[in-house]
Order: sequence, then C-alpha cells, then structure tokens
Amino acid sequence: MLSDKLKEETKTNHQILEKALVGQLKAVRTTQEYANLLKLFYGYFGGLETRINEVIDTNLLPDSTERRKTQAIADDIKALGGEAPDTATGDDLPTINIHLEALGALYVIEGSTLGGKIISKMMQQQLGLVTGFSFFAGYGEKTEQMWDVFKQALNRQAENPEQEAVVIAAANQTFLKFGEWFNKNH
Ligand code: HEM
Repeated sequence: MLSDKLKEETKTNHQILEKALVGQLKAVRTTQEYANLLKLFYGYFGGLETRINEVIDTNLLPDSTERRKTQAIADDIKALGGEAPDTATGDDLPTINIHLEALGALYVIEGSTLGGKIISKMMQQQLGLVTGFSFFAGYGEKTEQMWDVFKQALNRQAENPEQEAVVIAAANQTFLKFGEWFNKNH
C-alpha cells in the first residue's frame, strides 16, 4: 500500500529532520524562542499550503481544507505576542504542480501531527506555558483517527507504481526542503 511505502521510503529524511529539530527544541528556554520556532513552521507550511490549495483535487480528498495548519500556527504566534512572517515561495518549496505531488506534501504535513504530540509535551514542560499549542496539539484525541482516514484516502489515489513514485518523491522533497528552510532561517 502507498501509505506503507511512504513510511518506509521517507524514513531516513524523517529521522534527519527529527534529529535537527529535537536539538533545537531541547534548547528552547523562552516564549520568544518557541515563537521563533513556530515562525519557521509557519513560513514553510504556509508556502506549502498555498501551493497545495492551487492544485489539490478536493473531489478526491474532500476533508482537505479541514486539514490546513497555517492559521493555527499564526494563532499560536499571535498568542505568544509575535507576528507571522512571510511564507516560503519558489525554490524554497518542493515542486507541487499536480494533485499527486500535493498529496506527497500533505503526507508530510499531516504526519507532523504525530510528532506534534511529543513536541507540545516537551515545550509545555520546558516553558510552563499553556497557550500557543493549537498547532502542535494536532487534532487532539482525534489525531490518530484523522491520520487513519488520511492514509485510507492516500491508498485510494495512486493507480500504479509510477504514480506512487510521484507521491513518494514529493514527500521526500518536502522533508528535504524543510531541512534546508530550517537551516537557512534559524
Ligand atoms: C521533534 C520532532 C519530531 C518527532 C519527535 C517526531 C516523532 C514522530 C513519531 C513518534 C512518529 C510515529 C507516530 C506513530 O506511528 O504513531 C512520527 C511520524 C511521522 N512524522 Fe514525525 N516527528 C517529529 C517531527 C516531524 C516533522 C517536523 C514532520 C513533518 C514536517 C514529521 C512528519 C512525520 C510523518 C510524515 C510521520 C508519519 C510516518 C508514517 O507514515 O507512519 N515529523 N513522527
């Protein structure tokens, strides 16, 4: 199934990103530093979602608009007293020109809700904060269910190995470009 292949074939890039992020997260000591981290997510996910909205076929993914994260991140940044920055464009983003590429990028965005649980726990412990967690909270108790529904939708879309390869390549690019964005902006 495509969801299994995505997991397997993006594992290395997830690990690289997770490692880079965990180091940064552990070093966060102030609300300002946490807000800066959110700004990194905002810039990249915001750029991704703009492209995704332009090419996604919502007939194939009817709950797609419910899954956008940019607004939640902006709300968190505001709650912490900051301002949302510009979003990524052009070469800072993976190529998202067709529905299948949008799916690959969405796989990465949706998957971030799974690690988000761990991240929000870390931040709450380190900062003693109670606001500014709507993004990392994901879908709360519904996170696993939303993930399962997304994977089921994914598994209905690619019709052959060539199409699967397009989704997987887009997901890997989305991870890699996030790492580059992260290094460039922090
Ligand atoms: C400190 C940072 C992170 C940690 C500790 C972390 C941890 C995790 C964990 C524990 C899972 C597996 C959850 C499960 O199978 O129930 C997971 C899955 C996933 N994470 Fe992360 N993550 C982090 C950052 C990210 C980020 C920033 C992204 C995307 C930008 C991301 C994308 C994904 C994806 C796509 C999956 C799904 C893998 C699959 O297909 O099962 N993660 N992460």
